[in-house]
Amino acid sequence: MSASAALAQQRIALRGDLLDFVAAPQWGEVESPALRYRADHWLLIEDGRIAGAQAGDAPLDESWARHDHRGCLILPGFIDTHVHSPQLDVIASYGSGLLDWLKTYTFPAERRYADLDEARAGAARFLDALFAHGTTSAVVFPTVHKHSADALFAAAQQRGMRLIAGKVLMDRHAPDGLRDDVDQAARDCVDLIDCWHGKDRLAYAVTVRFAPCSTPEQLAMAGRLCTSFPGVYMQTHLAESRDEVAWVRELFPEARSYLDVYDRAGLLNARGVFAHGIWLDDDDRAALRDAGAQIAHSPSSNLFLGSGLFDWRAAEAAAVPVSVATDVGGGTSLSMLRTLADAYKVQAMAGERLTAWKALHASTLGAAQALGLSREIGSLSVGCAADVCVWDWAVGAVAERRLEVAQGLHERVFAWMTLGDERNLVSARVAGVLRYERGM
Ligand code: GUN
Ligand code: ZN
Repeated sequence: MSASAALAQQRIALRGDLLDFVAAPQWGEVESPALRYRADHWLLIEDGRIAGAQAGDAPLDESWARHDHRGCLILPGFIDTHVHSPQLDVIASYGSGLLDWLKTYTFPAERRYADLDEARAGAARFLDALFAHGTTSAVVFPTVHKHSADALFAAAQQRGMRLIAGKVLMDRHAPDGLRDDVDQAARDCVDLIDCWHGKDRLAYAVTVRFAPCSTPEQLAMAGRLCTSFPGVYMQTHLAESRDEVAWVRELFPEARSYLDVYDRAGLLNARGVFAHGIWLDDDDRAALRDAGAQIAHSPSSNLFLGSGLFDWRAAEAAAVPVSVATDVGGGTSLSMLRTLADAYKVQAMAGERLTAWKALHASTLGAAQALGLSREIGSLSVGCAADVCVWDWAVGAVAERRLEVAQGLHERVFAWMTLGDERNLVSARVAGVLRYERGM
């Protein structure tokens, strides 16, 4: 094949209704200038990147491989900022709150990843499941085992995806087979950073499970890693349930708050992704804002485990970036649409109303910005990676009817977000490559 023929094959055009954001929508605003909605357009993809867009009836020459999805929505792939790859095995486990759920279901499942083949098969299953739910980038906890992080990075590299992950640190309050120690963990992290951080679309996150599972020495070691490798991320859990917060208070009586435990260890920085952040006070929110760290709000998990109702409005008022996460297996679905529908309901419990724009922005461009990756992911802007999903506006008689009578764009998109799920997904591309197609 000639070079130009090869190049031509790399030109892909997708036709549909393009929806993304160019700024952050205001709270409560259903008419938002932050939204970019281009009905019936071609999205042009060249060499795995967004090359432009043009009206659906504008001519396209033969060099473009055309996929006509007229009547479908086209969005940037979702970004799930907090999810556990080994926990597909415990999703929808009955009967307990966070601490008991960890002990009863989660730790035994994660222990299975001591086996390399389990870890490899689990990583592949997990990433393919993300694509099948319309998520193309994620910030992920594997397990304490170094090879589980290796397997996850290798599987993501093979699929060309943007993934942030790291070996889980936990040297206490966990069963045999799931504890590391400070020195070996430090060596493992450095090896993994050398091997994976900055390679292709991968980045390392120093991954502290949560304060109760790490000794003060291990937290300090994790803080030193963040300082020694300034480009790496940091991910952990923060103030998720009341019992957990009380336990942290007992374990770290010197700290002003749960967040302060991490701050004292040097773990509070702009590359920090803190899952949950339900039981915070104004000083905590100010510290998060000053550090430029984000909260990964996980509404499905918070409801399922009975952890509490996240105060998004307070975070917004304090200028703390908020992204959205499934937190599977605490969360009951990898679908960001289902998760956003839950987020709306959580805010409704506080008398607040989350617009579709705010919700969709937080799970696309907003998450990308909070991760410092908005030039690569989270929008359909020229130059971004072509991580793109095609969605049916409605699946089934109820959603179809609701859409038929919906007035205006916000009402239509809100109905899609609230009634839709992975069954609406037509296809998912990662860097232009088709990674999921319904029925394939
Ligand atoms: N806190 C510590 N570990 C976990 C976990 O695996 N899931 C959730 N939801 N919270 C945690
Ligand atoms: Zn979690």
